[in-house]
Amino acid sequence: MPITILIGAQWGDEGKGRAVDWLASSADIVARYAGGDNAGHTVALGSEVYKLHLVPSGILHENVVSIMGNGMVINPVNLVREIQSLREQGLDIGPERLVISSRAHIITPAHVELDRARELALGDEKIGTTLRGIGPAYLDKTNRAGIRTGDMLLDIEVFAERLSVAVAATNADLQQQGLASLDPTAAAESYLEAADYLRPYIKDVSIYLHEALKSGKRVVCEGAQGTMLDIDHGSYPFVTSSSPTAGGALTGLGVGPLFVERVIGVAKAFSTRVGGGPMPTELNGEIADRLRGTGANFWDEYGTTTGRPRRCGWLDVVMLRYAASVNGLSELMLTKMDILSGFDELKLAVAYQIDGRRHDYPPVTNEQLERAVPIYESLPGWRDDITGCRALDELPGAARNYVKRVAELCDVPIRSVSVGPEREQLVTIF
Ligand code: IMP
Repeated sequence: MPITILIGAQWGDEGKGRAVDWLASSADIVARYAGGDNAGHTVALGSEVYKLHLVPSGILHENVVSIMGNGMVINPVNLVREIQSLREQGLDIGPERLVISSRAHIITPAHVELDRARELALGDEKIGTTLRGIGPAYLDKTNRAGIRTGDMLLDIEVFAERLSVAVAATNADLQQQGLASLDPTAAAESYLEAADYLRPYIKDVSIYLHEALKSGKRVVCEGAQGTMLDIDHGSYPFVTSSSPTAGGALTGLGVGPLFVERVIGVAKAFSTRVGGGPMPTELNGEIADRLRGTGANFWDEYGTTTGRPRRCGWLDVVMLRYAASVNGLSELMLTKMDILSGFDELKLAVAYQIDGRRHDYPPVTNEQLERAVPIYESLPGWRDDITGCRALDELPGAARNYVKRVAELCDVPIRSVSVGPEREQLVTIF
């Protein structure tokens, strides 16, 4: 059975890009199924660092076809910009290597403005979105008022007309928030060039994948964001507007569940979050600063898309256990273990105490989550530099113990651990 689904098991930014890059070496197709350019995947290959927002990480492997699924929301202008910049970095990206679903939804300039307007209106209660128009685009989709990538295959005049009607329709909302209206014709025009550029890439992805799977091709489904940002299973309303969890891979690509063989959860060895919403293990001060890094390196904890410093804390096993359950994880990959080197003591949040009761899974309301006091288990740290380790027995005993304990607490095997940003800085455990 040829599908592997790769999921973020926390609040996004778990290192999924490099995990997909690793899996892609034995895949034929890498397919993204949710979100848009709110995502930011960074992959380092030698001296070159690739920053991907929309294009799947499979593009870094010449023999892999990258797919953008119907579950995504795509800003065509930003996608063209990204393709061109990857081309400048030497990547060959033609329609035989990148396939865009004809059923994905388009992010219009109105969506981007509305995202900003809604965040402004929420004031202190704001979600902290990436301001890429993600929420408003999904809202139009479920409201059956969206424009799809397949519409770019229509007569260009018809496409332009649809865009300007959609932009004009949102101007009243913008004015209500005191924001300037958009010029519908100018907004549509900026998209026409992008539509011309992207037209050859647009296909029916579900049929494409079905035929590929029937002929034995191996597919990696690349998750964006993370389980705790899922519209249904995350800490609502501080979530994104799509389904980054395992179920989303099936609907977001139009493939059946019987093809799925593995579901891999990617989790950082500690916790990070960007944007608003509760984060029970959040720390402030010296430990958080050490986990975050200074921002001098691309792997430091600052958003790839927004540049915002990420909130940092000890590993929240309660969330991880929940992610294992929601996604039916068959295994976990633990990333950034090297960042934990040098601490005398490490902590794992194994449960929460809320109003005098122990919780092994996160409660449903944010009000309860805000009151959650983590119950920590303390583990010894290690001093050694582990960035050169490539096998489990090369890791110091305390690091092996940390990996073993996390796996026990989530009841999911950990099969790989990353110890640095480079492709080969990986410890695989079988
Ligand atoms: P949106 O997806 O831009 O609407 O943002 C909604 C929430 O999801 C905000 O808290 C964002 O910071 C968060 N978010 C969206 N995409 C990512 C991501 O790729 N990594 C981490 N957080 C994200």
